[in-house]
Amino acid sequence: MSLFLVKKSGPLLGEVDISGAKNAVLPILCACLLTDEKCVINGVPPLSDVFILIEILKKAGANVSYDEILERIEIKASDVGGDVSNEHEAVKMRASFLVMGPLLARNGSAKLPLPGGCRIGNRPIDLHLKGFEILGAKIKQEHGTAEAKCPKLLGGYIYLDFPSVGATENIIMAASLSEGETVIENAAVEPEVIDLVNFLNQMGASVFCVGNGTIKVTGVKKLHGAVYTVIPDRIEAGTFMAAAAITGGDITLKNAVYEHIKPAAAKLAECGMAVEETENGIHVYPVGKRKAFNIKTMPFPGFPTDMQAIFMSVMTISKGTSIVTETVFENRFLQADELKRMGADIKTEGRVAVVEGVRKLTGAKVNAPDLRAGAALIVSALAAEGQTEIGEIQHIDRGYSHIDEKLRRLGAHIKRIEEEKEGKK
Ligand code: UD1
Repeated sequence: MSLFLVKKSGPLLGEVDISGAKNAVLPILCACLLTDEKCVINGVPPLSDVFILIEILKKAGANVSYDEILERIEIKASDVGGDVSNEHEAVKMRASFLVMGPLLARNGSAKLPLPGGCRIGNRPIDLHLKGFEILGAKIKQEHGTAEAKCPKLLGGYIYLDFPSVGATENIIMAASLSEGETVIENAAVEPEVIDLVNFLNQMGASVFCVGNGTIKVTGVKKLHGAVYTVIPDRIEAGTFMAAAAITGGDITLKNAVYEHIKPAAAKLAECGMAVEETENGIHVYPVGKRKAFNIKTMPFPGFPTDMQAIFMSVMTISKGTSIVTETVFENRFLQADELKRMGADIKTEGRVAVVEGVRKLTGAKVNAPDLRAGAALIVSALAAEGQTEIGEIQHIDRGYSHIDEKLRRLGAHIKRIEEEKEGKK
């Protein structure tokens, strides 16, 4: 298996380009199924999740061409078929369920494999299905698949029990081609949801965030093609901010949007870092000693669950006791045991973790348990004495493009050892 070898690195210095947001790219690519005209999406980083979704979109009938150098996807879904239930990759990647809303609206039916379980929690899709039902769809779940059918969706009132990002996105996409008005209350308003809304409106949809977590969609008969550039990835930006904090570095995140990373900036400010908005991004630099801080994950504009593991890494060597409360997922401390192997002092109890800052971390052999926990291990390894060997890095490749190259340009000692080369040793 491929792995990262990371050695203790001095303060990271310089500028880093932040890529397009994975969690905005995925729903936006799905939304392209809503029109038979060509869409061009810019800022699509070469991530394994993107490649998986491209295959699923092709299975659904779309023509997709991806220029990895220009990071641009052209997609034309002249005709779509609703049955992608045999697509095994779709089970692995939850975001693939986001093709359901567009296929249902465009095709009158959609059949998909039920997304598989996930180590960070149950992750059901009941809220997606409830939304489709309110819009008039008949839902059938059998043999590991979910099928939705409705010749013409009608607008409706949907209250989400939890502001689920995926359910909000799926319902908005379906409602865009329905008849009448849909109101979604307690909707997710993450920047990636807003990016999807902006893209849909460019396609001719009528979607408005009216405040207080309410989104109104007025269905239209047809959507047209559009050219769109996705927002920069706030989670990637947060990862580099954490890398700067743990190494005492001074870096500029080019393109990052300050509004999107405010909760992370506030936390780093408590921990002895300055985070400032600049003309073309965000400047992060140390202003004092690293101090303990607490985080509680919440839907946006709260602290993002996707940055929780990464910020826990910073806590491990910040002076004092830090507390993490994870409210979004029930089992999202997978990084804790790996960080303990590196000398961290962490106690977890249910959804709470108590982190006592230690004087130093030490390099160890660890494995990335999932995408963000894997990124947390890289961040910790930058500050750990000696060498850290991180295995299972395919999880990290799901959501970070060229993370090793980007870190090396800032002065980090990180090397990717490819699978084949290992075999030759
Ligand atoms: C998206 C992000 C993921 C992020 C998460 C929360 C993408 C591709 N992924 O995932 O990186 O961690 O938002 O910010 O954008 N839930 C239900 N029923 C449902 C749907 C969700 O109970 O039908 C629960 C989940 O179990 C979880 C919570 O709602 O506890 C949040 O999940 P959700 O916001 O839906 O996350 P995703 O859209 O899957």
